[in-house]
Amino acid sequence: MRLDKYISNATDISRAEVKRMIKNGIAAIDDEVTTNPAIKVSPGQKVSLDGSIISASKHRYFMLNKPAGVVSVTKDNNHPTAISLIYEHRSEELQIAGRLDIDTTGLLLVTDDGKWNHRVTSPRSKCSKLYAVTLAEPVGADYAEQLANGVLLDGEKHRCMPAIMEQLDSHSLTLAIGEGKYHQVKRMFAALGNHVVKLHRFQVGDIILDDDLAEGDYRALSDTEVACIL
Ligand code: URA
Repeated sequence: MRLDKYISNATDISRAEVKRMIKNGIAAIDDEVTTNPAIKVSPGQKVSLDGSIISASKHRYFMLNKPAGVVSVTKDNNHPTAISLIYEHRSEELQIAGRLDIDTTGLLLVTDDGKWNHRVTSPRSKCSKLYAVTLAEPVGADYAEQLANGVLLDGEKHRCMPAIMEQLDSHSLTLAIGEGKYHQVKRMFAALGNHVVKLHRFQVGDIILDDDLAEGDYRALSDTEVACIL
């Protein structure tokens, strides 16, 4: 497909405007700037406009390394939102797949694909979320067993699904959970008589937070990463 058509189809920018933008040298194919609107884009090539990746696929998928202080909602008057860190066209169509608290850092998935979002967040899909947890008090000897049996959270009728814990040192551990109740990890450790002082998500399903992604940065997911959420 011609570059100008490709960009116009994937954005809400008119073909004439896209042509002007390309001629001004802000479009690139595989990171190489081109000023030719008629150049052909082949399947698998990466097209960008003013540094933002343009995806011709119907849906878009990103991982963001969420910093503390950023909220996982689309609009907020007092804090920066995760979506405001995603400099993409039609960003108002983006939604967060599995929120993190304001003080939690790490892997946040963002998409405009509602069905995919549901598969990430629905407890039925068994998409595990992995966290690095630091506690105020030492890790209890019976925590692994209690978490594996399903902890009963304050105010809930049903126990949590079994969670898998691996102790890292006296006060820290990794935790894998298969669901995402409100403040779940913090409430799980509160139920065990402890308190979470630091929480960082580093994996969702098989999608692992990219080490190269600085806090506040994001990148598009690869096709393989998108497809691994079943
Ligand atoms: N559990 C929490 O308590 N907070 C988060 O941000 C994510 C999981």
